[in-house]
Amino acid sequence: MSRPPNRKILLGVTGGIAAYKACDLVRRLRDRNFDVRVVMTASAREFVTPLTFQALSSNPVHCALLDERAEAGMGHIELARWADLVLVAPATANLLARLAHGFADDLLATLCLATTAPLVLAPAMNQQMWQAPATRENVRTLRDRGVEMLGPAQGDQACGEVGPGRMLEPEAIAVRIESRFRGGALEGVKVLVTAGPTREALDPVRYLTNHSSGKMGYAVAAAAAEEGALVSLVSGPTALPAPSGVDRVDVTSAEEMHAQVMARAARCDIFVAVAAVADYRPAHRAEQKIKKGDGPGALDAALDLVRTPDIVAGVAALADRPFTVGFAAETESVEAHARDKLERKGLDMIAANRVGLPDRGFASGCNALSVLWRDGGRREFPLASKAELARSLVGLVAERYRAEHPA
Ligand code: PMT
Repeated sequence: MSRPPNRKILLGVTGGIAAYKACDLVRRLRDRNFDVRVVMTASAREFVTPLTFQALSSNPVHCALLDERAEAGMGHIELARWADLVLVAPATANLLARLAHGFADDLLATLCLATTAPLVLAPAMNQQMWQAPATRENVRTLRDRGVEMLGPAQGDQACGEVGPGRMLEPEAIAVRIESRFRGGALEGVKVLVTAGPTREALDPVRYLTNHSSGKMGYAVAAAAAEEGALVSLVSGPTALPAPSGVDRVDVTSAEEMHAQVMARAARCDIFVAVAAVADYRPAHRAEQKIKKGDGPGALDAALDLVRTPDIVAGVAALADRPFTVGFAAETESVEAHARDKLERKGLDMIAANRVGLPDRGFASGCNALSVLWRDGGRREFPLASKAELARSLVGLVAERYRAEHPA
């Protein structure tokens, strides 16, 4: 059977312990009928042998930039032209730095520079290295150039630490690569989502918050990623893992969420505000735990509240604003309150949900939405799992966004 065209993946493997997972990735890509050629750096060969990748990919493995035999067959420029997509998994901090600065000091870096194919990186490194300012800067530079970052995931690391830095699982990477080739409704569109609650500290021990679990917002982020969007998720404290292929930024308070959203909003195409942001925070955060013995006066003072910034209204007011979607959590007169918020906050669309019922809204696995948009349009999405609802909502958002931004 002949292979469908445009399914050629050049897989770069760099030297990290996650290199062993790249073997499984080759198998999963081949299961999806991709033609895979593997390029290994010198340090990757310390972890896995080229023979393993040769056997799994059924293609010769490329290792050296200046290899007479390779140049006589498929040389580095031909290899760069051959690929429909260049994927590097795992991508170490060293590789990110070399790519950000345009190095061409080995075969893989040279190919990344020489190719016109899309570049997708699945970073894997120690969590401290991922969070180091130099790596953050390199990632920002690469993203600004259109490079897609898949992950990293949070969790236990081979070095014994816990945090962001694990390579995404091979299946999640293969799903994302497949969806890029399939072409989703939001292919290449930059989507920013907020999710979860915020916590507003009274003192080092106590805070004000709400019942949001983050499930609805995470489902929206996952559904947008499934449709090919490049998704950033600014999340309040939740117990949920980041959805595959989504770049998650953790925050605690409304002010932190506001800062992280405003830093990204002008660069995104669609903003979906699902977070249950606290409307008020304590005017003063006590440095020390407020003692019960300090009397009611101390607690009254701590409960002196001030408004938090309205994040979604702030984004909608930007001169170069993204398509802006709000949520409305209401206990009564759901549609009337939602329409009022749509207009008052200057939104393009609002998804209203009833809260305070046991089978939907906060923390439940299910929900129902009434979606309203500016020219008087409306659509009902009846009670369903949050994952299903999020797919329906994202489909509608894509439809309305495309209507306003024809390709
Ligand atoms: O997280 P789950 O447990 O899955 O629950 C889902 C949910 C009920 C939290 C979700 O479906 C939902 O309704 N999210 C919006 C909650 C909310 O704060 O609604 P609101 O009506 O108070 O706010 C209206 C809009 O303004 C929202 O888009 C909100 O994100 C935004 N907002 C509110 C206050 C503020 N300071 N800044 C904001 O951006």
